[in-house]
Amino acid sequence: MADPATIEAYYLENRTFPPPEWFKQQALVVDTWMYDQADQDYEGFWARQAADLLDWSKDWHTILEWDLPFARWFVGGQLNVSANCLDRHVEAGRGDRIAYHWEGEPGDTRAITYAELRDEVARFANVLKGLGVRKGDRVNIYMPMIPELPVAMLACARIGAPHSVVFGGFSAEALRDRINDAEATVLITADGGWRRGKAVALKANADEAVAGTPTIKHVVVVRRTEGDVTMVEGRDHWYHDLMADPAITVDCPPEPMDAEDLLYLLYTSGTTAKPKGIMHTTGGYLTQVAFTHKYVFDLHPDTDVYWCAADIGWVTGHSYIVYGPLANGATSVMYEGTPDHPDKDRWWALVEKFRVTKLYTAPTAIRTFMKWGTQYLDRHDLSSLKLLGSVGEPINPEAWVWYWEHVGGGRCPVVDTWWQTETGGIMISPLPGCTTLKPGSATFPLPGIGAEVVDDKGNRVKVGGGYLTLTRPWPSMLRGIYGDPERYRQTYWSRYEGRYFAGDGAKLDDEGFFWLLGRVDDVMNVSGHRVSTTEVESALVDHPSVAEAAVVGARDETTGQAIIAFVTLKGGETADPAHGEALRRHVTKKIGPTARPKTVVFTDDLPKTRSGKIMRRLLRDVAEGRDLGDTTTLADATVVDEIRRRAEATPTEE
Ligand code: PRX
Repeated sequence: MADPATIEAYYLENRTFPPPEWFKQQALVVDTWMYDQADQDYEGFWARQAADLLDWSKDWHTILEWDLPFARWFVGGQLNVSANCLDRHVEAGRGDRIAYHWEGEPGDTRAITYAELRDEVARFANVLKGLGVRKGDRVNIYMPMIPELPVAMLACARIGAPHSVVFGGFSAEALRDRINDAEATVLITADGGWRRGKAVALKANADEAVAGTPTIKHVVVVRRTEGDVTMVEGRDHWYHDLMADPAITVDCPPEPMDAEDLLYLLYTSGTTAKPKGIMHTTGGYLTQVAFTHKYVFDLHPDTDVYWCAADIGWVTGHSYIVYGPLANGATSVMYEGTPDHPDKDRWWALVEKFRVTKLYTAPTAIRTFMKWGTQYLDRHDLSSLKLLGSVGEPINPEAWVWYWEHVGGGRCPVVDTWWQTETGGIMISPLPGCTTLKPGSATFPLPGIGAEVVDDKGNRVKVGGGYLTLTRPWPSMLRGIYGDPERYRQTYWSRYEGRYFAGDGAKLDDEGFFWLLGRVDDVMNVSGHRVSTTEVESALVDHPSVAEAAVVGARDETTGQAIIAFVTLKGGETADPAHGEALRRHVTKKIGPTARPKTVVFTDDLPKTRSGKIMRRLLRDVAEGRDLGDTTTLADATVVDEIRRRAEATPTEE
């Protein structure tokens, strides 16, 4: 959790920002009626949203069955997610509306209408059927940010095959483990993707992964970079060849799915080395992502151009690039590459080019832009922007105000949205037409959501700091951890009786505003990406030269947290910078670049309690250059002085 100094810094910025008059005049919600309605009957409230926002082929008979901690929403109801995201818009005469303005990093573009997307999805769904995929079979996806990625996801949804998307930045080993956990039969990938002008090889990683995945029968490869790839006869197929088969038609009726059928798995890091397959189902998930996308971003689908600048490989992309925006018939921008290619104004060039009205990104990106300076913004006309969103980590008030002032021109509300892979959709956030904003606060739980802060013992805290909990089920909540119901119960529902434990510290101010303070468990948040300390530790000790490793997240000005590894080498190994680099590379290979330690500090010993537990708190203090607190429980108090000396002498990777 953030230390008291950070918490205090939050309060130095004490301006408040009521909704601007111009915004209110066109906003969907300008007063508290929705909160009042949801307070009276939250199940009825969600049922109204489900009925208003989605088309159901069969009505539900029960809104919610709650057998703590297992929830079933809209029981008995049937719908198809791809029909809701595509066909119904086409049938309503909106087929010509652009679903995605896609821009590749090299500058190639594609505008895809709802009608075109529907047809491509239907055809690819037929391709999947041809490869033997049946309702309930899991399909893995490992792709760059190209249009075929949402096509693949929606094609799976169309035929009722749950997808499991693995972020393209993950390593072959990480991909292999996720495929094996899901026991997927098909993998959809690409030859590569563009990143800072270089082709990143995905197929080579996929090949390495699939060598260890007995369940994969077919690999579908999209051609993107035209790099060299090896195609395995009988197993590997080019996407364009499969789609060109004259037998593949656009005729593919969407499979009616039960509200509680699995829509997808998405793996996320927890406090152990094994990632968790978070399960999201059909009806409740789509209801909440459509609801939150509409009201948090105050969506006007006829006129808005919405851009969520996340990667679809993370939950933000699933919910707010694919499912929420498409369910609402929105026009989105989708961009393949990085913000600094070819120059640091790329995002602002895109905002100007597509006349983007709503932009959703992470504090890390905002802090990076702050560091680069406003000259990159000044090159472009950003006057189309109406609303800005933030997600993924606590936003410090300075970054909030910079975003508001320099990107939003001082006229756009900033919505700071708190949620998690597990919650599926936004939970705590302003409604921009009615909520007064405080920079750094995600403000209040949305209508229909119950959130409270509790102390160590689980007593409710009305003003002050503690742990964030959710007090009742919500439609897009995870339905479990794939294959491990006990871990689901243990991780989220055992710490406080009857409450979901989010793993975040939070503080309530005297006006009831929520201030999220970061993780309180062994999960780090690096550039808005979740990384488990234990996962990095086990990658390190997997290296033959390492005897012991402890990993902590230390505060970092740009990335929120940075990964600092303390490593004890086996006898005879040399503790030099080259060895540090080799270990960093090893972690990248085991997990992916998001998990690469910024610093590797070699030490002869780690600070341990007398019972042998590593004291990470002390290591965090060392990493953040703080005075050490109480060290009396240490078995050998001199160890930390030595570690501090070594840490100060260790160069840090930029
Ligand atoms: O610590 C919280 C932080 O990100 C965690 C969830 O990470 P993940 O499942 O990867 O999902 C990220 C995108 C939804 C949370 O436990 N977090 C997310 N949003 C915020 C946040 N912390 C503070 N403020 C936020 N707005």
